[in-house]
Amino acid sequence: MPTAKFDLLPSANPTADAIRNDILSNPGFGRYFSDHMVHVRWTVDAGWHGHEVRPYGPLTLDPASAVLHYGQEIFEGIKAYRHADGSVWTFRPEKNAERFRRSARRLALPELDDETFVESLRALLAQDHDWVPTPSGEADECSLYLRPFMVASEAFLGVRPSHEVDYYVIASPAAAYFKGGVAPVSIWLSSNYKRAAPGGTGYAKCGGNYAASLAAQKEAEAQGCGQVAFLDAAENKWIEELGGMNLFFVYHDGRLVTPKLTGTILEGVTRDSVLELARDEGLQPEERHISIDEWREGAASGDITEVFACGTAAVITPVGELVGEDERIRCTEGDNPVARQLRSKLLDLQYGRSEDKHGWLTRL
Ligand code: COI
Repeated sequence: MPTAKFDLLPSANPTADAIRNDILSNPGFGRYFSDHMVHVRWTVDAGWHGHEVRPYGPLTLDPASAVLHYGQEIFEGIKAYRHADGSVWTFRPEKNAERFRRSARRLALPELDDETFVESLRALLAQDHDWVPTPSGEADECSLYLRPFMVASEAFLGVRPSHEVDYYVIASPAAAYFKGGVAPVSIWLSSNYKRAAPGGTGYAKCGGNYAASLAAQKEAEAQGCGQVAFLDAAENKWIEELGGMNLFFVYHDGRLVTPKLTGTILEGVTRDSVLELARDEGLQPEERHISIDEWREGAASGDITEVFACGTAAVITPVGELVGEDERIRCTEGDNPVARQLRSKLLDLQYGRSEDKHGWLTRL
């Protein structure tokens, strides 16, 4: 397939160097945006067309746009990393492209081919490469977080797949997702809410899944927790994932267990990478059902020695404790050596400090 060409409409008002540098010195997460964005239009008659990089700015959407009423929307999260020689790279973009197509199928949106997906990131970075922060040291996980997304933009209130769709990519400089950085995060165990049900949209990266997690996330915050953990909807027994990241359990004998993909769990790119890196490190990764009772008992007996969350935004973040209606379970006694080791391996790879044995890096 020929690679799509993106027309450029440069920003007439790019951010001044001093202001951008100030933002990059302390970007937080998801608050600031680069000077440009990608846009590609799709219509049922013409397919994908009008590939462009244009100034970042508000969208004009008809109030009757399907996305505003029925939530026909999907997105991705992927990062651009600056290496020591100044070059900019991204990590396994073909996995995000593939997941974006899977999400599109589930939400009855048109599929964007993988080459155009990757090329759209490259086209944006060609303009906004100065927005990729330079890490100050090995502990610094700053990056440019890229957010491709697709929305149903046809002005029509009938419930059917939209005949008009828009794809965008925006970019936001990012530091650690959690305020405490790599400090262990507390997790709230939701008993009132479920994230996804069998046959639903759990495996798709769509806004609705995140919207559905917010009431539980509010509960989590009221309990002083940074994230919420969901159990399965059918049996209320199996651990699924957190509001915005996957979970891993480290056992004292070197097993590393993560809930298996049942269709209700997001197929995280970081999750998949951790499984691979764990094998390299001599751990024994297992994808299987893990019940909340196994978590409780494993933590109590010392069989489970660490728990960590992972995702593009969160990288690998240790879980300090699980908090429920009537319980408080400590998840780690020590310094989370396995989580820290895997985290360093992953970051070293992403920032070009170690050999890319798996061929996971793509230059932007
Ligand atoms: C990501 O990790 O990229 C996500 O989309 C999760 C969200 C919590 C930021």
